[in-house]
Amino acid sequence: MNVLELVRPDLRGFGGYLSARKQNSGGAIWLNANEAARSQPFDTQQLNRYPEPQPQALARTLADYYGVDPAHLLLGRGSDEAIDLIIRALCIPGSDRILIQSPTFGMYAVCARLHACAVIDSPLQETAAGFVWDISGMIATARREQCKVLFLCSPANPTGQSLPRADLERLLDGLAGQCLVVVDEAYGEYSAQPSALALLPRHPHLAVLKTLSKAHALAGARIGAVIAAPELIAVLKTCQAPYPIPKPSAALALQAFSETALAATRAGIVQCLQERSRLQKRLDALPMITQVFASDANFLLVRCTDAETLAATLLGEGIVVRAMRQYPALQDCVRISIGTPDENARLLTLLENYPGDAHA
Ligand SMILES: Cc1ncc(COP(=O)(O)O)c(C=O)c1O
Repeated sequence: MNVLELVRPDLRGFGGYLSARKQNSGGAIWLNANEAARSQPFDTQQLNRYPEPQPQALARTLADYYGVDPAHLLLGRGSDEAIDLIIRALCIPGSDRILIQSPTFGMYAVCARLHACAVIDSPLQETAAGFVWDISGMIATARREQCKVLFLCSPANPTGQSLPRADLERLLDGLAGQCLVVVDEAYGEYSAQPSALALLPRHPHLAVLKTLSKAHALAGARIGAVIAAPELIAVLKTCQAPYPIPKPSAALALQAFSETALAATRAGIVQCLQERSRLQKRLDALPMITQVFASDANFLLVRCTDAETLAATLLGEGIVVRAMRQYPALQDCVRISIGTPDENARLLTLLENYPGDAHA
């Protein structure tokens, strides 16, 4: 199957905006983009010039890092932008549908709504061991509802579990020719499950989202990537803003791939996993916490006797956690990001001395 068959028919062959920087390169005197000829005295990066639409050095570095050819990768403003671009390029507003598995990351449904696409839900199932995907149900629902895109977050936010490789293969086989399967690996670095990237050569209807916002500690730089079949990447590019990646962000992101920075990233992941297991054990022993879900990500989802009061009490002490009130299945839960060892110690001290009547 050619993945272009999933693209909106009116966008097949669409060239997108031809920016000055795309139209011509090279030359020494640039009089083609109506930029200021002068730069600011404080500017050390020639920010009077528009940036490269896809900063080549960063694109090549990320492609190498993820082990793919650069033609398979599109840089964007976080994986949030990739989610938006995929829906924009594939879904006909007013008639196409996407499939999610609630409770899940909210941006899939938000972007669908912004593009006037319906959101079909094939909910996660709660078992004694935590939440799991219903692969057969997802395949059947996506086929019945003729969904164009299926978003699957693994490790899942906010529930924390990873999708086993065999289940992903079953899903991909079941939906070949039907829809694009987007695996959002924002938290992939914290999981022992292998990346879905290895499945790309055999499954042109797979796209994988990556981000520098989590393990690479660069959420403020807003750099993410979608990795998929080159034909699809070419289409997504035509739907993107002309100069999406600010030059300072690209330069900063490149530094995250020096040997030193990568060693620090690996050490950060190791520390996060140690802290996660320490927090998990200690939270499990607390009377106001009734369940700590297993997590493959950099957060823990916990079920409490009174989630709202717990979140408000912590906020009163300056600690901000996320109450999960927007998810019907998680009304009694809060999600706690793993902090530094000191921050986690402060959280535990507060919770271990939590006033008895606050959780009665
Ligand atoms: C599952 C998931 N995907 C994507 C994102 C967005 O990340 P980015 O900063 O790359 O836009 C988040 C952010 O929390 C997330 O949890």
